[in-house]
Amino acid sequence: MISLRNVSKEFNSKNMALTGINFDAKQGEFIYVVGPSGAGKSTLLKLLCREEQLTGGSIIMGNTRLEKIKTRSLYKLRRQLGIVLQTDLFIPYYSVFENIRYCLEAVGSGTFADEKRVQAVLKEVGMAEYKDSYLNELSIGQQKKVAIARAIINNPPIILADEPTANLDAKSALEIMKLFFKINRTKTTVIMATHDSTMVNTVRRRVLELQNGYLIRDEENGGFSSIADPKDVYIW
Ligand SMILES: Nc1ncnc2c1ncn2[C@@H]1O[C@H](COP(=O)(O)OP(=O)(O)O)[C@@H](O)[C@H]1O
Ligand SMILES: [Mg+2]
Repeated sequence: MISLRNVSKEFNSKNMALTGINFDAKQGEFIYVVGPSGAGKSTLLKLLCREEQLTGGSIIMGNTRLEKIKTRSLYKLRRQLGIVLQTDLFIPYYSVFENIRYCLEAVGSGTFADEKRVQAVLKEVGMAEYKDSYLNELSIGQQKKVAIARAIINNPPIILADEPTANLDAKSALEIMKLFFKINRTKTTVIMATHDSTMVNTVRRRVLELQNGYLIRDEENGGFSSIADPKDVYIW
């Protein structure tokens, strides 16, 4: 249901962020995107939500070519995507509930974020009792959970997450990863850029590895690197 055909992104003539990327993703897949800093992981996710426009090739999502969507129609794409970015945009002096409601209105998601629905997704991510807390009172891990709640509020078929466990302690990172696996169990496609080698090696899923903007590996149940590290074991 997602198809990338020869996708490239050139930010300027000296800098090809992505070159000739080809892959297909089926509905319900869980895909890790790995690779060193600067490899093109974030750029790939940004192309998939049209935060950036590709400069070559084509991205087909469902029955649409993403590069053909007009700016004024982008909201139709966005409301079908759950997006968890590296820096989640929140308003620190708004409550958790107000932030979720405000953000949904800001992206023109067309969803009326009624309190019941917000409460339900907060419960799903284990943040039910924080609905009226201010964002700046929460830990980074808790803020990430709110970002995930916001991303899943429309029941999107696809979730894009950019290094959601960066800057988290091991316990919070594990909680966040478990949430994504739980979301994936409802047939939501998850595409996640990550540096979490332990998780990639422990919970094996499809791995796309980028290097200098090239897709150098596409492996079912792959490890973080071609050489498995026996030290990498998470205790659940
Ligand atoms: N807005 C931008 N303008 C110019 N170059 C960019 C921009 N965003 C990313 N790049 C470049 O594209 C390449 C890939 O970056 P990125 O996708 O952020 O990598 P990663 O997320 O894997 O660390 C890097 O060389 C980076 O400098
Ligand atoms: Mg990045």
